[in-house]
Amino acid sequence: MMLLKEKIEGQLPEWRERVRKLLREKGDVKVGEISIAQIYGGMRDVKSLVTDISYVDPAEGIRFRGYTIPEVLSQLPKPMGNEMPYIGGLYYLFLVGTIPTVEQALDVENEWKKRGKVPEYVFDTIRAMPADAHPMTLFTLAVLTLQRDALFSKQYHEGLKKDSYWEPMLEDSMNLIAKLPEIASFIYRLKYKNSEIIPSDPNLDWAGNFAHMMGIIDPLYKDLSRLYFLLHSDHESGNVSAHTTHLVASSLSDIYYAASAGLCGLAGPLHGLANQECLIWLLDVREKCGECSYEKSALRQFAWDTLKRGQVIPGYGHAVLRKTDPRYTAQLEFGKKYFPNDEIFRLASLVYDVVPDVLREQGKAKDPWPNVDAISGALQYHFGIKEFDFYTVMFGVSRILGISANAVWARALGQPIERPKSLTTTMLEEIAYKTA
Ligand SMILES: CC(C)(COP(=O)(O)OP(=O)(O)OC[C@H]1O[C@@H](n2cnc3c(N)ncnc32)[C@H](O)[C@@H]1OP(=O)(O)O)[C@@H](O)C(=O)NCCC(=O)NCCS
Repeated sequence: MMLLKEKIEGQLPEWRERVRKLLREKGDVKVGEISIAQIYGGMRDVKSLVTDISYVDPAEGIRFRGYTIPEVLSQLPKPMGNEMPYIGGLYYLFLVGTIPTVEQALDVENEWKKRGKVPEYVFDTIRAMPADAHPMTLFTLAVLTLQRDALFSKQYHEGLKKDSYWEPMLEDSMNLIAKLPEIASFIYRLKYKNSEIIPSDPNLDWAGNFAHMMGIIDPLYKDLSRLYFLLHSDHESGNVSAHTTHLVASSLSDIYYAASAGLCGLAGPLHGLANQECLIWLLDVREKCGECSYEKSALRQFAWDTLKRGQVIPGYGHAVLRKTDPRYTAQLEFGKKYFPNDEIFRLASLVYDVVPDVLREQGKAKDPWPNVDAISGALQYHFGIKEFDFYTVMFGVSRILGISANAVWARALGQPIERPKSLTTTMLEEIAYKTA
């Protein structure tokens, strides 16, 4: 039996009883209230989802299964001679809840190797699309195309018992994740590198193989890929890609339908597209500020000009966090260690010395600190990935790790179909003015 399956199976009786007991004994306890502003305001901060895989602590940033980003980076097993962990180990942590041994991390990596062959019909589908189709469209389509092979849908129609729903969900998730590096790099090479496709290298780990198939010669890019995929993988359940996936899967759609829906959400400019906005902003600073040698006063002025135009400074601010995002710090440290003099990287770090003060002076943003997007594009740019449209695909590859792990556990714990209640504006007015 697959190790991950065995580990989850071992935990299930206890987890199921824990949830049943909570619901049975304390199901009526209220955890919050909801205001009209929240109903009209995108349900901001409404406590209505449950996940045990990650939690965004306003003071510390994301924790994966209780571990902070520095803890995850230092404790997860790494390929020999590298500084960044196996993504197979991260997936083990997501699904099992504990830091794996090297063997356990490698077990997941090996499962992905076994399942990694991408069917030719996926490539045919991508090739059949117009040459100017957005890479996110191609990526989403590829994931959806794989639905043909969904085990969950097949077994469900054959009469699978509810208690076993999570098993094909896990199999499907593993099958899907295994193919993502090859699909994503295929899209990149097809669109931007004259269709010169680089075959996969079975000796490499999942993330290292992605770096290889992208055609980036510098071996350091393998570690950056591991870091990037780790940092973007999960961010609680309320963000658009995670919530969409959960919502769609709650109707018992399989992971291919659910994840492709989540990817469509990720493609929006308020979500996954933000990282490319940041890089565009930095390149704009370079162009306009070129002669100023990036003096602080000139950078301050540029930041103010952006705000005065009514625009946001991309990469700064956060809906939940109130300090520098640890995912930003991890990437900053990577750049500082390996290429401190890279121009765009240096610019991104100089901007960090200026923008928080400007945002504080303006007094609007609740969080003036950088988020994960403020620097991720600068690191890709250093390695020659300059096609901004592709950045969200890499985000998507990573995000499927988190959303699929959540989908497996949602099935395992029998989470039901989502069905919140709507009201009309008249009803809200009646409630509001009656209680005023
Ligand atoms: C991340 C973000 C969407 C969070 O939004 P939020 O939770 O509504 O943030 P706040 O509550 O702090 O927003 C309060 C005000 O500050 C403004 N603000 C927040 N971050 C800002 C920024 N980086 N630059 C300028 N203004 C900003 C908001 O636009 C809002 O203005 P308004 O009252 O005129 O609508 C927001 O900070 C933002 O747009 N940042 C830039 C884009 C970005 O980096 N996105 C990636 C997120 S991971």
